Amino acid sequence: RRGPVVVLDGPAGSGKSTVAKLLARALGVPHLDTGAIYRAVAYHMDSKGIPPEDSELLLRELEVTRVEVSQGFVRVNGEDVTREIRTPHVDSIVSHYAAIPAVRRALLGLQREQARDGIVAEGRDMASVVFPDADVKVFLTASPEERARRRHLERLSKGEDSDYQQVLRQVEERDRLDSQRECSPLKVDEGALVFDTTGLSVDEVVLALEKEVR
Ligand code: C5P
Repeated sequence: RRGPVVVLDGPAGSGKSTVAKLLARALGVPHLDTGAIYRAVAYHMDSKGIPPEDSELLLRELEVTRVEVSQGFVRVNGEDVTREIRTPHVDSIVSHYAAIPAVRRALLGLQREQARDGIVAEGRDMASVVFPDADVKVFLTASPEERARRRHLERLSKGEDSDYQQVLRQVEERDRLDSQRECSPLKVDEGALVFDTTGLSVDEVVLALEKEVR
C-alpha cells in the first residue's frame, strides 16, 4: 500500500467532507465520501418508486444496481447522479435506506476496494465496520446549532432557499436515525480521536489532523 488509511466519522454537518477532501490532498491519497454512495442508492430507489419498506423489491433492485465512485463523481448504472443526490429531498430519505442491513452489506466491497493505495474515507461506520484496521481514526463533531448553521450557509451560498430552523430540525432528525439504528450506527469507535470542530476554522482542523497522521 502506498499511503495511510485515515477514517473520519461524524454526524451531518460536522465538517467531514470539507476536511476529508483537504486532508486527502495534503496526504496525497484519494478521498472517499461514503455518504455519496448511500445517497446514490437512496436516490435511485426513490426514483424507481421503491420505498425502504418494500424489502422484496428493494433486494431485487439492489442486485441489478451498480454504483461507481471516482474523483468526486457518483454513477448509478452508468448515470451520473453527482448533483441529484445533494437535494433536501435526498437528505430527508437517505437515512431510511441506509438503515437497511442488505443495503449496507451490498456496499461494503465497493467501499473497501477504494483503499488499495491508501485513503481518507468519511462516513458513519468507517472506523467500526468498513475499515476497522485504519491507521488513524477520527470522530469529528460540533454542536447541532453550528452544524445546522454550516448547512444553512452552504445552501444559501449555492443560491438555494433555506430556513435555519428547518435545517436544524432535519440535521437533528438525521442524527437520531443514524445513531439509533440497529445496523452499524453512528458512534465513537474506541480507537477514535474525538475532535470537536465548533468554533474552529477548516484550516485549523486539517492542520491538526495532518499532524496526527504524520
Ligand atoms: O455524509 P452524508 O451526510 O452525505 O451521508 C448521508 C447519509 O448516508 C447519512 O445521514 C447516513 O444515513 C448515511 N451514511 C451511512 N453510513 C456511512 C455514510 C453515510 O449510513 N458510512
